[in-house]
Amino acid sequence: MDHFELKNGELCAEQVPLAEIAREVGTPVYVYSRATLSRHARVFREALSALPKVHIAFAVKSNPNLAVLRLLAKEGYGADVVSEGEMNRALAAGIAPKDVVFSGVGKTRAELIAAVRAGIGQFNLESEEEGVELAGIAAALGKTAACALRVNPDVDARTHAKISTGKAENKFGVSHDRASGIYARLSALPGLDMRGLAVHIGSQIGDLEPSRQAFLKMGALMNALRVQGFKVTHMDLGGGLGVPYKAGEQLPTPADYGAMVTEVALGWGVTLMFEPGRVITGNSGVLVTEVVRVKRGAGHPWVVVDAAMNDLARPAMYDAWHDFVAVKPSGETMIANIVGPICESSDTFALAREIDAVRVGDLAVFRTAGAYGATMANTYNSRALVPEVMVDGDKWAVVASRIEPATILAAEQVPEWLD
Ligand code: LLP
Repeated sequence: MDHFELKNGELCAEQVPLAEIAREVGTPVYVYSRATLSRHARVFREALSALPKVHIAFAVKSNPNLAVLRLLAKEGYGADVVSEGEMNRALAAGIAPKDVVFSGVGKTRAELIAAVRAGIGQFNLESEEEGVELAGIAAALGKTAACALRVNPDVDARTHAKISTGKAENKFGVSHDRASGIYARLSALPGLDMRGLAVHIGSQIGDLEPSRQAFLKMGALMNALRVQGFKVTHMDLGGGLGVPYKAGEQLPTPADYGAMVTEVALGWGVTLMFEPGRVITGNSGVLVTEVVRVKRGAGHPWVVVDAAMNDLARPAMYDAWHDFVAVKPSGETMIANIVGPICESSDTFALAREIDAVRVGDLAVFRTAGAYGATMANTYNSRALVPEVMVDGDKWAVVASRIEPATILAAEQVPEWLD
């Protein structure tokens, strides 16, 4: 459920007509609904309420906007970060260092040092080598780094191959059969407090069974470690729950997910940690765009919009579907190809799709663009970096300004020796 609805024939974010934002900020522009974000944060927490000890660390990568992070901090969320940049954003938003989990397969030495100094709550180690390096850093700084070992359970999440992370051939974590040996060796190192395990099998998961299988494997590993005398007080079950991208699409809900986790993990006697991203932010945002041209084609007409693959990369990267609706629908429909202005054919949002009829100058939105939208934007074709707006009831504010091509140009220099 979200708060982007037609009011008097016009698509609004909460009480604010999207046309008003487009007029003042220009297009393309991302618009987030505060009420939707808060609602999703609460629904996800509520779904886990049968579990005694829960820590929810929002996956910053899905939407790192400072205002979004501040809102989630106020909802009591911690943060799951994968770079020093994300860590600094989470801290700047007011999330306590102890509530931050540092994930990621290639944390650099400089990042590990910065995170130990900042007092980050947990490092999710992706390898024995990383653990050894972190132990040395922490000991040298006179600190102890709390750690979980990320395990690759070799389970197929049945999602798009490019966002699947839990198969043996994926780069993430340590293999299930080597995990207890690594856990034992890392537990012996000064500087580390090995306190748990972590798993994350993929994103946009639409079937809970693979997650259940992975969690059962993690539970068995936890028991085996305890039998060997090791401490396991924390279990990080990652993120990955999918969201509907098409109107009417049925996916497991947070409540379904919570019931599954409760069934598997209620008796584990650990703090259960979660790293949701998309399920919190996905339906909380739309990308507003204007139709630049409607061009006759060999087949269906080409609707050329002013948003492109640099603003919303998901269709080009993962063949992802985003519903496209007019801001002032006339009630008529058309079948069209929707494309951006960028000079390659991958800049395609939809082919042969039935959409609201649109004409040049009309506004439209790509829905469910709050996760992995603005954060994956770039400036390809020397386009601006897309701005972001947050709405709250009848008020709204720009929460990330458009970065104009001239600003980016100003950061480039021609060396003297070229002239
Ligand atoms: N935890 C870890 C360790 C992750 O790698 C991810 C996502 C998450 C949590 C959050 O997953 P979520 O709850 O958002 O599914 N750019 C892609 C998605 C990449 C996901 C990467 N990892 C897309 O646009 O679909």
